[in-house]
Amino acid sequence: MDGFAQEPVAVALLAAGVRIFGRSLKYHRPRGAVCLDGHCSSCLLRIDGVANVRSCQTLCRAGMVVERQSGWPSPKFDVLRAVDWFAGDRLDHHSLFTTSSVVNRVATGFVRKLSGLGDPPTAEPPAIAELRNFAAEVVVIGGGTAGLAAASQLAEAGHQVILFEKSHHLGGRLLDGACRLGEPEKDQPGWEILGQWKSQWQSHAGLEIHRGTTVLAVYEGDRPQVLASNQETTYLIDAQRLIICTGAYEQLPLFINNDLPGLLSIRALDKLFYRYGVVPAEPLVLVGNSDRCLRLAYDLAKQGVKLAGLVTQTQASEGIEKLKQAGVPLFFDRRVLRARGGRWLDRLELAGPDHPEPDLVLDCQACALEGPSSPAYELAHHAGCRVSFHSHSGYVVTTNEDGRTSHGQIFAAGHCAGALSCTEARQQGEQVGRACARCLHSVSAEPGGQHG
Ligand code: FES
Repeated sequence: MDGFAQEPVAVALLAAGVRIFGRSLKYHRPRGAVCLDGHCSSCLLRIDGVANVRSCQTLCRAGMVVERQSGWPSPKFDVLRAVDWFAGDRLDHHSLFTTSSVVNRVATGFVRKLSGLGDPPTAEPPAIAELRNFAAEVVVIGGGTAGLAAASQLAEAGHQVILFEKSHHLGGRLLDGACRLGEPEKDQPGWEILGQWKSQWQSHAGLEIHRGTTVLAVYEGDRPQVLASNQETTYLIDAQRLIICTGAYEQLPLFINNDLPGLLSIRALDKLFYRYGVVPAEPLVLVGNSDRCLRLAYDLAKQGVKLAGLVTQTQASEGIEKLKQAGVPLFFDRRVLRARGGRWLDRLELAGPDHPEPDLVLDCQACALEGPSSPAYELAHHAGCRVSFHSHSGYVVTTNEDGRTSHGQIFAAGHCAGALSCTEARQQGEQVGRACARCLHSVSAEPGGQHG
């Protein structure tokens, strides 16, 4: 198959019409790419002899060997799918074989084989990564809107900043084609802001950015210690201050069969369309209410992509008027009740807000949905920061007005700390950057403060 350098494997596969990437562990339901952001695990494949590689986070390379790893006799036609039909209500595999230890042993081996986690690697293990252990003034975790805003503020103030970003691209949501920032006009594209920051960084010698590097742990102590790793290097950094900007995970709304291949997140569609020029399948349905969803629907329609409809609660807006003029079918006051299809989505059933039965069916081959975002609070929580539950966004890292967490040396900003929009994430990031700089100044002003 063909793919572009710098293009993720999952994107190249979708562009080539590959829809089923594998099967789920327990019920052997078909799986296809959903988030394209490294969070859902629906795109796991065996790549170059290594099982369970996220294909949406792995860039194409000439000669790469990419294999599906689950399903028998194949992921496309998996007879073990029968488990889903026979035991769809409940299958407790922990208590199936409890009567005999011999049977248990045999059954466990059998279940492992069937579960589809892939075989052990045949590839040579990678060489042990070089370890770099040093101290830094500030470590920023996350190169999205908030993380970059905070790092820019600190670097501009002359501080030494190490930034880790797990993906290969900096910018997070700023790279989304439909993302706009700024009040009140909300019309500055995210990539323009990213471009401005990048040109400012040229003059900041203290800013060190590591892309494709995952933070594995934050250890508590006098100072937070950050452990991060990529294929070549492992970093263990004593940070005077740590800023956590780990963002949020997009989730699909809940409805029956919401895991069918062909259903994906709005951000995944945004990435496919604007960044890689790929449309997963047509006709396409979009479900969402935000300006960015309407903008994406309009741009898709303008490019001649066949849209079966936009399902939205937004009735009166400039975006809706433009979509009407573009001839996009609009469905208001409806929700998705169920997705239908054998191995791949082929229709959506919609119902009115309080109706238990569908009153409209849309034929479609793909559907992008805007769901609730779940803040990625876990790393901050493990590092000892307090988290709290907010009814509109779930658990978020608790911060004061300066972005300081309950752990005095750790700050948090952006979606993981409750920001709901990119504009808010940017403002929080800048605020936290300034607060952290003030904090470092006051420490270095104290006697012996370099080590404070
Ligand atoms: S983790 Fe790759 S598509 Fe979600």
